[in-house]
Amino acid sequence: MDSADVRAFFEAVSADWDEMRSSFYNEAVIDSLAQHSRAERSMAVVDVGTGTGFVAAGLAPAVGRVLGVDSSPAMLSVARENLGALGVDNAELVQGDIGRIPFASATADAAVANMVLHHAPEPSSMLVEMARVTRPGGWVAITDEVEHPYEWMRTEQADIWLGFAEAEIAGFFADARLVEYGYASLGMQ
Ligand SMILES: C[S@@+](CC[C@H](N)C(=O)[O-])C[C@H]1O[C@@H](n2cnc3c(N)ncnc32)[C@H](O)[C@@H]1O
Repeated sequence: MDSADVRAFFEAVSADWDEMRSSFYNEAVIDSLAQHSRAERSMAVVDVGTGTGFVAAGLAPAVGRVLGVDSSPAMLSVARENLGALGVDNAELVQGDIGRIPFASATADAAVANMVLHHAPEPSSMLVEMARVTRPGGWVAITDEVEHPYEWMRTEQADIWLGFAEAEIAGFFADARLVEYGYASLGMQ
């Protein structure tokens, strides 16, 4: 499984993703990302691996601007439909890779990602990129990275990694030179 396989997977499941995702997470995960990224009206927030816009749509009413990035044109196409249907007019979606996020350094006040780190060929690079696009003093929050034994997730969810130990996550944040690190359970296993 490499990033081309991951992209092919999401291109194929884009029409079904909203239903697939709902078996894993509900809006509580957006609330947690908003809380941990200190989301507020004045902020621009990058949503990495935005998919069909689930997190972007949830954050948009609470912040100034959402910038979504995803490698799958089909997922982005569904996201544009979803955001349009909800009347969201402060989200901008761009095709790009998590290893090289197509935004200038310090573009945003915060960067968030839900259910994306499993798909990153180099997880520490994803955190470095999230830190790069976030201004100094901003916040980076990720959800869904707990280590698990489910090999089937590699084929059925295009996971490159079966999650990460807490120490590995702390290491990724440290490598990205992020400070004030926190790790919490959402109680959504
Ligand atoms: C499991 S989905 C999560 C989508 C969304 N964050 C959500 O909560 O519903 C993972 C998303 O990450 C995107 N993705 C995976 N690998 C990527 C990469 N290397 N660069 C950019 N996006 C990627 C996929 O296309 C997909 O939309």
